[in-house]
Amino acid sequence: MLAKIEELLEQAKLAIDSATSVEVLYEAKVKFLGKQGSFSHLLKEMGKLTPDDRKTIGKRANEVRDILEGKYAVRENLLKDQELNSQLEAQKIDVTLPGVAPERGVLHPLWRVTKEMCEIFSRLGFSVRTGPHIEKDFYNFDALNIPPDHASRDLQDTFYINDGVDRKPGDFSPWLLRTHTSPVQIRSMLTEKPPLRIVSPGGVYRSDSDMSHAPHFHQVEGLLIDQDVSMADLKGTLGFFAREFFGSEVEVRLRPSYFPFVEPGAELDASCPFCKSKGCGMCKGSGWIELGGCGMVHPLVFKQVEMEYPKWNGFAFGMGVDRMAVVKYGVSHIGLLTENDLRFLGQFRP
Ligand code: PHE
Repeated sequence: MLAKIEELLEQAKLAIDSATSVEVLYEAKVKFLGKQGSFSHLLKEMGKLTPDDRKTIGKRANEVRDILEGKYAVRENLLKDQELNSQLEAQKIDVTLPGVAPERGVLHPLWRVTKEMCEIFSRLGFSVRTGPHIEKDFYNFDALNIPPDHASRDLQDTFYINDGVDRKPGDFSPWLLRTHTSPVQIRSMLTEKPPLRIVSPGGVYRSDSDMSHAPHFHQVEGLLIDQDVSMADLKGTLGFFAREFFGSEVEVRLRPSYFPFVEPGAELDASCPFCKSKGCGMCKGSGWIELGGCGMVHPLVFKQVEMEYPKWNGFAFGMGVDRMAVVKYGVSHIGLLTENDLRFLGQFRP
């Protein structure tokens, strides 16, 4: 029996020493030392021995078990270390390799122009107001002195929002996508006390689409309400803006025009910054570039918002951001601004 124990010891030692992974080692442990293992089988036969033999053999069996358990623990530690090391080796980071640089984004040209326009006006004391894109026709039209039969209310120009109410043909839902940022004027005049100096940037929508018109475009609208404001203040303000935005040599001119919410109303032109007014493709040979509309706030608008007129009076202007971006950066086609082509947008790195 003793010989058998010694033989098992040798076999188990060999199995432990030759195990190359923690799993194989564990299998060896089960095989020799486990409850159903060879060593346990052997010990079960101890009952058949004489008390003296049992004593010596039992002693040796305990020693052998201790030896094997010790050996197992040492080998297990070693294999675990080795496995950890090889895992670490596999994940090793070479700090000398060049890194993967995340691509840096740039501000979208429309947002960049919007920001710059608002910043220029902020230097003249204007602060920014925004309003909802889904507007009520009162703010977008009525309060701006645009009566229900006005051409700009035509289904051709306006995206109405279906509110689920059945109406007679020709009657429209009172909800629409704002066609300009002017409703923000009304919202501010109704909720704030004069004097007022605000600019309202944002997206606007018209059912209109060709080479120079997009159904979704952007505006910056301005409103100044104070006492004894004149057309000269308006021209001075817009002249300052145009010089800051396009360059100091740029001049502005006002051409009489009609907008229901201003009187007098005018179209705002800037001398072409490309050709210095000599005439080029950008200004279509005229030497001037149309930037937007402007004028003195109409008395009927003051009436709508119940603000005392002529104690308070003022001017308003509205400019297209997309058009500004086209002129400022010499963009060939307005659609490029919204196509999201990274080859185009990537050129606007500061
Ligand atoms: N809201 C006008 C438009 O979108 C522009 C404008 C604003 C004209 C303010 C005059 C005064 O066409």
